[in-house]
Amino acid sequence: MKAVIPAAGLGTRFLPATKDIPKELLPVLDKPVIQRVVEEALAVDAVDSVVIVNSHEKPSIEAYFSPAPKLIAHLLSHGKDALAAATEAAGELPVAFVYQDEPLGLGHAVLQAAPEVADEPFLVLLGDYFIPSHEVNRTLAQVSAEHGGCSVIAVAPVPHDQVSRYGIVAGELAGSVDGTPKGIEEPGAVLKLSGLVEKPPADEAPTNLFIVGRYLLTPRVMVLLAGQEPGAGGEIQLTDALVRLLEEEEMYAVVIDVMEGCDTGTPAAWAGTNARMALADPTQREAFLEALGPVAAAVCATAVTL
Ligand code: G1P
Repeated sequence: MKAVIPAAGLGTRFLPATKDIPKELLPVLDKPVIQRVVEEALAVDAVDSVVIVNSHEKPSIEAYFSPAPKLIAHLLSHGKDALAAATEAAGELPVAFVYQDEPLGLGHAVLQAAPEVADEPFLVLLGDYFIPSHEVNRTLAQVSAEHGGCSVIAVAPVPHDQVSRYGIVAGELAGSVDGTPKGIEEPGAVLKLSGLVEKPPADEAPTNLFIVGRYLLTPRVMVLLAGQEPGAGGEIQLTDALVRLLEEEEMYAVVIDVMEGCDTGTPAAWAGTNARMALADPTQREAFLEALGPVAAAVCATAVTL
């Protein structure tokens, strides 16, 4: 199975930092965000490789995933074996590239990966949010297997006044991931979907459950995307193709705790993610708290991490 990571966006919410550095290459501690998303995808047993949907304007993403023999030889000759191994690993990840050279929307981006995906189910992972535990995609695969291989997406509750920023789902409670009773907004709940809507006005949203950016989809969605008309914001929306998929196939959603994951889509979210990752990493935690100074360190030491 392939995993598709759309990464052709302009990163406007992060300008001017993203003027020359793609937002996908911004670091979270010592690794770019997109490497963390690639590793999350590859943690699913069935995923053998990742397709990144890039734009030709951002060749540094390909460069990052390419081998760097000269740098590695230099590191090895200076006894920096661990850094050499980490650098080599980044260049050896099974990543292929396709291109979206016009910003026509998420649905259009995913469609560019159709030749790579062929006739198999595939994962979509949005590239500015990663889940360090690597659990969510495995859960999507489990729920899909329990329901005949249908499409399953991850959702999470969002405050009602923010629903218009996201894709929102409607559905009925259909069980839970571990078989214990759950409320409809509780992590682990499984919903049988009855509708989806992209960026609805708050008073028209059917629920407060938003599409988080982790999808396990049947290949039929590629056929639907090929004929998809532009929707919200004049863009070809993946959510709109899923609305049509739901007319033909069952679809389920798994509720997750959105704080299981780390957002990097804005400067504040990215900074918070770096802080949480530093606090959760025993090799970084003490130096990070020291760098913050005593007052901030006291607040951070009790923060919820991962
Ligand atoms: C996209 C999807 C939306 C989803 C969101 C999650 O929107 O279209 O359904 O809820 O990602 O981040 P975008 O953020 O690209 O506007």
